[in-house]
Amino acid sequence: MSAYIIREATPEDAAAILVHNDLIANEPDNGITRGPGENMTLQEEVAYLETCRATDNWVMLIAITPMGEVIGICGFQGGRRRATRHDGDFGISVNREWRDKGVGSALIQHLIAWAKSTGIITRVGLTVMTHNERAIHVYKKLGFELEGCKRAALFKEGRYIDVYMMGLLLLDRPKA
Ligand SMILES: CC(C)(COP(=O)(O)OP(=O)(O)OC[C@H]1O[C@@H](n2cnc3c(N)ncnc32)[C@H](O)[C@@H]1OP(=O)(O)O)[C@@H](O)C(=O)NCCC(=O)NCCS
Repeated sequence: MSAYIIREATPEDAAAILVHNDLIANEPDNGITRGPGENMTLQEEVAYLETCRATDNWVMLIAITPMGEVIGICGFQGGRRRATRHDGDFGISVNREWRDKGVGSALIQHLIAWAKSTGIITRVGLTVMTHNERAIHVYKKLGFELEGCKRAALFKEGRYIDVYMMGLLLLDRPKA
């Protein structure tokens, strides 16, 4: 397999991101909340990436090959209010052909480095389906801690699914 780089996405990456998102959305038991037909339109994706670029506590990272194929994405959205700006959740997906090759871990390590570089974000959070053992392994390996469980938080493919909430604190909590 050829090499890839990780970088922040620009609006010009929207079409390649949608190709990736469609592949993931059409996988059965895909580990994410979006299913077939639920991805953004090209126009919506462009607008979303523009918002990411213009918002100091949002980012969309992509892993992309020299041929321009997006093989993984990791998007983070921080809160919009003063009380929530330091905190946000991310979503991640890696092309099936590229899983278990370190791409997901590399994307999250980039995300953590970016979060620290913002000078704003001190908590990186996520939710993950409780049966998604690979994802949970990666998150724990990178220092994320289990914070709780939301029962029946999702309804997918005819069944309710529990999700874990996990988080990584980047600073000690400020004193009250
Ligand atoms: C979860 C996901 C992002 C991880 O990305 P990835 O590139 O496959 O991850 P990596 O290659 O960096 O690491 C995979 C690790 O999981 C381990 N692993 C694989 N299958 C596993 C399983 N069933 N149980 C536990 N660990 C498992 C691998 O051995 C590897 O461990 P290591 O880093 O200690 O060597 C990717 O698999 C994916 O996109 N899955 C589908 C979408 C999804 O579930 N997204 C997450 C939503 S919360």
